[in-house]
Amino acid sequence: MNDKSQKSVANSLEVEEHLLQHMPYLLQDLWALGSSVDQILDLIGTLPLSSDSVKVLDLGCGKGAVSVKIASNFGFDVVGVDAMTEFLKDAYKKSSEYQVSNLCAFIEQDILTYMIEKHSFDIVILASIGGVLGSNEDTIKKLRTQVRSGGYILIDDGYLKRGEVLRRKGYEHCRNYKKT
Ligand SMILES: C[S@@+](CC[C@H](N)C(=O)[O-])C[C@H]1O[C@@H](n2cnc3c(N)ncnc32)[C@H](O)[C@@H]1O
Repeated sequence: MNDKSQKSVANSLEVEEHLLQHMPYLLQDLWALGSSVDQILDLIGTLPLSSDSVKVLDLGCGKGAVSVKIASNFGFDVVGVDAMTEFLKDAYKKSSEYQVSNLCAFIEQDILTYMIEKHSFDIVILASIGGVLGSNEDTIKKLRTQVRSGGYILIDDGYLKRGEVLRRKGYEHCRNYKKT
């Protein structure tokens, strides 16, 4: 992992970079690393998509909690991208456990590098990885390059309470509801 990826991963996990090597151990009991998996599944369930050829991109997929459940619940093809080798090992294990390894591909790469190339996924998910892609506007712009026309962008993030200011590393992109 290069320095830039390392910084981004550390930010997304809200730890100092020197602690990164310990994160797989510290997070060993968790599968989902921050995203609201059930809500994402509920939302996807409302989309007018048939399972035949739906392709999903899960950016910053971590241990694949979202990717594997989507493949398992809907039969969609999922590509998960993450820079943490150890997390991806768990993602592969889980996809086998759920018998969807044929539907899941996990790529070890910085998501910014992956996104240099345009793609045309039906659904692109950015779940609980913070402001890696910049401001809200930049984030949407970049995600648009990965989704087909008429496809769906799903962001799992938070709003600030009205009037609240959050001076916390990794949360610089957060806006209140009105500004977003
Ligand atoms: C808080 S975790 C969320 C993981 C997953 N979306 C979930 O909810 O289970 C953030 C993930 O984003 C990954 N990440 C952060 N920045 C990244 C980058 N620039 N390229 C690839 N992965 C990144 C981290 O390695 C980590 O797995």
